[in-house]
Amino acid sequence: MTPSANSIDETSAIQDFYDAFAPHYDAFYELIDYPAWAAIMQQQLDELLPAPRRILEAGCGTGAMLCEIAKYPGQSCVGVDVSSGMLQVCRSKLKFEPKVELAQSDLFALGFQTECFDAVLGAFSLLNFFPSFCRKDLLKEVWRILKPGGIFLTDYFTTHRYQQLLQALAQGREASHQEPVFTISQIFPTQSSQSAPSFVAHDQLMCERILRVGGQILKHPLYFIDPQQMALDFSAMGFQIVDKISLVRDSSATAPNRVTLIGRKPCPSFTSK
Ligand SMILES: C[S@@+](CC[C@H](N)C(=O)[O-])C[C@H]1O[C@@H](n2cnc3c(N)ncnc32)[C@H](O)[C@@H]1O
Repeated sequence: MTPSANSIDETSAIQDFYDAFAPHYDAFYELIDYPAWAAIMQQQLDELLPAPRRILEAGCGTGAMLCEIAKYPGQSCVGVDVSSGMLQVCRSKLKFEPKVELAQSDLFALGFQTECFDAVLGAFSLLNFFPSFCRKDLLKEVWRILKPGGIFLTDYFTTHRYQQLLQALAQGREASHQEPVFTISQIFPTQSSQSAPSFVAHDQLMCERILRVGGQILKHPLYFIDPQQMALDFSAMGFQIVDKISLVRDSSATAPNRVTLIGRKPCPSFTSK
């Protein structure tokens, strides 16, 4: 697939952000319990797909999730990311892991053949990087590379999370929530020396995420997703919704602020003679 002009703009902002963030990424998120998170994903993979499986992690970054998933038997893994900086860190961690291949690529134009993966994982807010028209292009590309019967498992911040951020900003505090799967209370921690908010709200569904790392100010947009709309987009692409897992709830939340959605590309139906 050829990436659209819009997705190229979105991707180039993300690429710059993550190239600069790469040396700090793992330390920044060191309190995230990736083994526990990967175990949740793996349980789904084991239940939904027979082994051996070929799995793509789309946006594998420094390999925080990929390294965990690769430890499980019965599967081979491929990691793709647009950021050479993130992949460089990932490569150094996977030196002794022959089952894992890495490639630098834009997810909107993957060089893989059609129907070559049993599962595509999009871990840690992948879909939130793109406005809805780009998300649809991404779904198309995922659909293309999945085998019939394959699954797409991905998590995203919901519009409810956006409301929490707005509230927090209005009250002059950093937004925080409890993330049961992580051992941290804030998924985007900020250093105490930072006075400015780490998010700036732009419109109803978009924020600018701002990080100060290594003496630099890094920014990229984040788009929040209505779970009903996401389910509709999955269905419109042809995915059957297998499961929705609310990964994040805080004690006062009326709705999940992070959802993992699992969609299956159906197998062509067999007609009995
Ligand atoms: C939040 S990080 C998540 C990394 C990893 N999955 C994890 O759980 O730690 C998102 C990653 O997606 C990558 N990414 C974003 N847009 C992309 C695109 N269009 N093509 C390829 N990679 C992309 C970024 O470079 C970044 O490494």
